Amino acid sequence: MLSFFVFLGLYLSTALASPCCSVCDCESNVIKCESKALDDIPLCAPADVNGYTEMRLANNMIPSSLTFSRIPDTIKVLDLSNNTLSTFNVDKVRYSLETLDLSGNELRRVPTLDKLPSLHDLDITSNPIPSTSAGFPDAIFRQLGTNLTALHIGHPQTFMTFPHTISTHLPKLETLEINGAHPAFSNLPPTAFRAFELVLHYLYIRNTHLYAVPLTLRRLRNLRELYFEGNPIHDYGLLPEAFSGLNSLELLSLKNDSLTTFPAIVNNLSDKLKTLILDDNTLLFIRENALNMVNRSNIEKLSLRGCQLDRIPGAMADDSGTYLQGLKVLDLSNNKIQSIDRNDLHDLQSLQSVSFSQNPLAYVSTLAFKNLERLAFIDFSSTSLKVIPMALTNINRHGLDIDLRNTDVECVCELACFEKYYRLHGFKVHGDCETVSVSLSSYLNTTVPVCPNYLGTQFPTCKTVN
Ligand SMILES: *[C@@H]1O[C@H](CO)[C@@H](O)[C@H](O)[C@H]1NC(C)=O
Ligand SMILES: *[C@@H]1O[C@H](CO)[C@@H](O)[C@H](O)[C@H]1NC(C)=O
Ligand SMILES: *[C@@H]1O[C@H](CO)[C@@H](O)[C@H](O)[C@H]1NC(C)=O
Ligand SMILES: *[C@@H]1O[C@H](CO)[C@@H](O)[C@H](O)[C@H]1NC(C)=O
Ligand SMILES: *[C@@H]1O[C@H](CO)[C@@H](O)[C@H](O)[C@H]1NC(C)=O
Ligand SMILES: *[C@@H]1O[C@H](CO)[C@@H](O)[C@H](O)[C@H]1NC(C)=O
Repeated sequence: MLSFFVFLGLYLSTALASPCCSVCDCESNVIKCESKALDDIPLCAPADVNGYTEMRLANNMIPSSLTFSRIPDTIKVLDLSNNTLSTFNVDKVRYSLETLDLSGNELRRVPTLDKLPSLHDLDITSNPIPSTSAGFPDAIFRQLGTNLTALHIGHPQTFMTFPHTISTHLPKLETLEINGAHPAFSNLPPTAFRAFELVLHYLYIRNTHLYAVPLTLRRLRNLRELYFEGNPIHDYGLLPEAFSGLNSLELLSLKNDSLTTFPAIVNNLSDKLKTLILDDNTLLFIRENALNMVNRSNIEKLSLRGCQLDRIPGAMADDSGTYLQGLKVLDLSNNKIQSIDRNDLHDLQSLQSVSFSQNPLAYVSTLAFKNLERLAFIDFSSTSLKVIPMALTNINRHGLDIDLRNTDVECVCELACFEKYYRLHGFKVHGDCETVSVSLSSYLNTTVPVCPNYLGTQFPTCKTVN
C-alpha cells in the first residue's frame, strides 16, 4: 500500500516536469540538467524555455570551453557546480544573472565577472583557489564589491588565510560562508570583516580546523544567524568574549563542534536568541544545573539531535517550571534515550512540537508529559515502543498529532483505554500495527470498538467492569 503511494507521488512529480533541451527536464521556470554526463551546455529550443529563470547544470563534465551563448538570456540563477571549469568566461553582458554557483570546479583564481552587473550571490567553494591576492585579485573584488551580497568560499587544501581583498571590499556583504580550510587556517585576523562588519547578517564557518571561535566575531553587532559547524573546537574553544558583541543574534548553531557540555556562552548572548542548535556533539549528559543558564531565556527552538543523550535532560523543566518557558520546538531525535520518566517534560507551557525519533525508547512513564497545553505534535517514529504510551492522555490538546511510524506497536484489545481518550480528543495517530497489516488509526477506529472488553473499559482507570 505504502509503495503504491510512493509510486503515485513519483509519477505525479515527474508528470509536472516536461522534457526540454534534449536531455533536461523543465518545471516551473527551472531547467534541470543535473548529472547528465554533459560536456557542454545543452541546446534549448527558445519556445521550451521562454521566461525560464533558473538553470541547473551541476554534476556534469562541462569544461572551460563551454558554449555560454546557449544559456538563455532570462536566466537569473545558474548552477554550474561540480563540473570541470578551470576558467570562466561569459559571452556578453548578462543583465539577468544574479546568482552563480561555480563550487566544485577547478578554478585557480576568482574569475573576472564584469559581464555580470547584477550578480549578488557567488559560490566558489571547493575550487583550488589559493587564498592569496593571486587567487583573490584586488581588481576583481573591487568590481564585485558594489553589488555582491553573498559570497561562499573555502577549500580543504588551498584556503590557508582569510583573503585580504575580501576584508577591504564588499561593503554590501550580508552573507558570508567559509566552508573548508587547510589546517594552517587557525584564526581570523581582527580586521577580517572590516568592510562589512555592520551589514553582515548571516555567517557560516564550516569544516575548518579553527581551535576557537574567532574573537573578531564580536564586532558583528548586526549578525542574526551564526552557523559555526564542523569545527572541532571543544568546550574550551567557545570563548565568551567572541560572543559578547553579538547583540542581534537570533540563531546560533554549534553543530558538530566536539562539545561535551552545554555551552555556558548562552548566558552571554542577547535575549534575542530564539534558536539554538547543538546537534552532533557528544553531550553525554547535561548537568542538572546546566540549564540554569538558560532560565528565563527566550529560546524557542532547541535542537539536540545526535548528542548521545541517554535521558531527557532533567533540568529541562523542574517542578517550579521556570526553565525554557518560551520553548516551542524541542528535537531530541537520534539520541540514546531508553525511557521517559515521571516528571520528564513537565510544564513547558509553550512547547508545540517534540521529537524522540530514532531513540531506543521503550518505556514512557504514565506520569510524564503533564501540563503541556500547547503540544500539537509528538514524534515517536523509529523508536522501540511496543505500546502507545498512556502518558499521551496527560496532554489535553485537541487534535494532537502522534507519529508512531516504524515502531513495533502491537495492536491488541488493551488499546481500548487509550482509544477512549483518542476519540474524545480527536488525536491523529500515524503508523502501522506490528501484528496485523492495518494502520494504527484504522485499528483504533474499527477494530478496538468491537473488542469484547470495549464497552466495559473505563478511562482513566482502564479497568474492565463487567
Ligand atoms: C557537488 O559535489 C559535492 C561533493 O560530492 C556534493 O556534496 C554536492 O551536493 C554536489 N552539488 C550538487 C548541486 O549536487
Ligand atoms: C550593480 O547593479 C546595478 C543594478 O543591477 C548595475 O546598474 C551596476 O552596473 C552594478 N554595478 C557593478 C559595478 O557591476
Ligand atoms: C563533523 O566534523 C568533522 C570535522 O570536524 C567531519 O569530518 C565530520 O564529517 C562531521 N560530521 C558530520 C556528521 O557532519
Ligand atoms: C559571560 O557571562 C558570565 C555569566 O553571566 C559573566 O560572568 C561573564 O563576565 C560574561 N562574559 C563576557 C565576556 O561578557
Ligand atoms: C529561574 O529564574 C527565576 C526568576 O528569575 C527564579 O525565581 C528561579 O529560581 C530560577 N530557577 C533556577 C533553577 O535558577
Ligand atoms: C479514524 O478516525 C479519525 C476520526 O474520525 C479519522 O480522521 C481517520 O482518518 C480515521 N482513520 C482511518 C484509517 O480511517
